[in-house]
Amino acid sequence: MSDQPLRVVVVGAGNMGRKWIAIAEESPAFDLVGVVDIFTDGARAAADGVGRTDVPVAASLEEILEQVETDAVANVTIPAAHFDVTRAALARGLHVVSEKPAAATLAESLALAAASEVHDRLFVVSQSRRHNSQLHELKKQISAFGRVGIATTEFFKAPHFGGFRDEMEHPLLVDMAIHPFDSARFVLDADPVAVYCEEYNPAWSWYRGDAAATAIFEMTGGVRYIYTGSWASPGVETSWNGSWRVSGEGGSAIWNGDDRPQSEPAVAGESEALRYGGVSESLHSFVGAVHTGSSCSGAVHENILSLAMVEAAVISAQRGQRVRIDDVLEDARADAIAATVERGDEAVRAALDAWGNAGTHLRSRAARSAALDPAGA
Ligand SMILES: NC(=O)c1ccc[n+]([C@@H]2O[C@H](COP(=O)([O-])OP(=O)(O)OC[C@H]3O[C@@H](n4cnc5c(N)ncnc54)[C@H](O)[C@@H]3O)[C@@H](O)[C@H]2O)c1
Repeated sequence: MSDQPLRVVVVGAGNMGRKWIAIAEESPAFDLVGVVDIFTDGARAAADGVGRTDVPVAASLEEILEQVETDAVANVTIPAAHFDVTRAALARGLHVVSEKPAAATLAESLALAAASEVHDRLFVVSQSRRHNSQLHELKKQISAFGRVGIATTEFFKAPHFGGFRDEMEHPLLVDMAIHPFDSARFVLDADPVAVYCEEYNPAWSWYRGDAAATAIFEMTGGVRYIYTGSWASPGVETSWNGSWRVSGEGGSAIWNGDDRPQSEPAVAGESEALRYGGVSESLHSFVGAVHTGSSCSGAVHENILSLAMVEAAVISAQRGQRVRIDDVLEDARADAIAATVERGDEAVRAALDAWGNAGTHLRSRAARSAALDPAGA
């Protein structure tokens, strides 16, 4: 375990990028060595904002790498830019920690997972809402109830973001629902098997794409996870984590997403405080994994199963049919292979070929990671 701070270039200096820069600058675990944004004024303002007028900025990763040496790249760009930035960083032999989603599409994400294997670098996706001590307590409570059969999340909010979300085709499913889907996998200790989803846009919605959806997932073990959400629902709004109910053989637990969960029968025990929580927990577990060579929560092979829930839900809604997650993953692997052939990326194509079935490969890599990171947080 190295006690040297991890040198990091932050790419993307928007809302989240500025938060990541603040965390990196405050923590002795990181050495912020550069900031990149296509708008260099924004990159400069972000570095200056944490008192780092000395940190170089640039408009692209390639440009900054001509000026500084780094161990890792933090990718906090918009989803459409995730693939190019992460791919370039891995190809330069750098570890990557990225905002969710791993990439804009499942096919791109699979290619990045294969690239992380080819270049033998860590690629970790920060799924910050998983690092919530109340969610961990919910998981602990329901583990006292024996077999679990049903979990639901209701999410109703009315944010006016402006920017990329207002123009996305599937703003709720693609930009937001990945959080509860990922949390459901964590709480239930289960992976997705199939989904039926309807996606729609309320008549008054201010989003171009569909801002509401209802999805029924079959998870491993026959558990059903039901998500209903809307980003165009003013009044009596839920928390940003949504409102949860998990029903098991010996009892149920509910969580409003803001306060400690409650269960009946009551399960004794204090909430376990996480060391950092949220994005900071993601970033520090990434540093730990780089230093020790172990895995951590959000490692791309595991995280892709949450993104697969998103893409399968979108496909189900488009087709009006229940779809199997492994079929969606295999279609995405074929698309990823076709794209790597077009790009002439022979090593990544060969890795994707060697996977055999994508779902089987991801789950077996995820199981190996879980064995290396028993905390799973
Ligand atoms: N975990 C969470 O709770 C959470 C919350 C909000 C956003 N996010 C995620 O964070 C990411 C960023 O979202 P945001 O709200 O900060 O968006 P934003 O639009 O505020 O910032 C994105 C920044 O990336 C820059 N950028 C775009 N393409 C680039 C490229 N190729 N190279 C360098 N810079 C580039 C833009 O100029 C912009 O400054 C998204 O993936 C989003 O899904 C996560």
